[in-house]
Amino acid sequence: MPSDMPKLYETECASCHMAFPPGLLNEKSWLNLMSGLSKHFDTDASLDEKDNTQITNWLKKNSATRKKYRELAPDNRITKTSWFIRKHDEVKIEVWKRSGVKSPSNCMACHEDASRGIFNEDKIRIPEK
Ligand code: HEC
Ligand code: HEC
Repeated sequence: MPSDMPKLYETECASCHMAFPPGLLNEKSWLNLMSGLSKHFDTDASLDEKDNTQITNWLKKNSATRKKYRELAPDNRITKTSWFIRKHDEVKIEVWKRSGVKSPSNCMACHEDASRGIFNEDKIRIPEK
């Protein structure tokens, strides 16, 4: 996670799920997501203008630069990018549905250090149920 992360990102964007690393979506995907917070995946995650601007600027600054993460994400979802699908093609459909996982968006279920932006192979533990 970039060290200049505003405290706001933790309080406003990591209450319903973990704080997703900005480097996993491109700039346009973050801008799309941040301009539609009142209809955020069936929830309302709206922010006042000042907080929205602060978080948006930080996301922009730290958005994906590495080529492989730079595509425009369908539905603004990391989990719908082609690299995500490719990297997880060994995970069976049944595994995503386990109660210990629930959703592909729940990175921390399998990646022990996901909240720190670490996704190495040796830090993966898949819940058995
Ligand atoms: C009120 C709860 C709530 C808040 C607050 C919230 N989110 Fe979400 N977010 C969700 C839900 C629900 C999903 C869909 C999760 C799923 O499909 O399992 C989601 C999904 C996402 C995804 C897509 C994950 C994927 O599947 O790749 C991103 C990116 C995201 N949120 C970013 C943010 C950011 C940035 C903020 C702060 C501005 C934020 N969220 C605040 C509820 C919330
Ligand atoms: C059901 C468990 C599970 C969930 C949930 C999950 N992953 Fe993974 N992830 C894996 C597995 C298994 C691999 C493949 C490891 C390998 O063989 O290289 C992987 C690989 C990755 C890699 C590539 C790592 C590398 O070093 O090449 C990234 C990046 C990654 N995941 C990010 C995420 C993100 C971000 C989320 C949440 C939005 C997520 N994962 C959710 C199990 C999971």
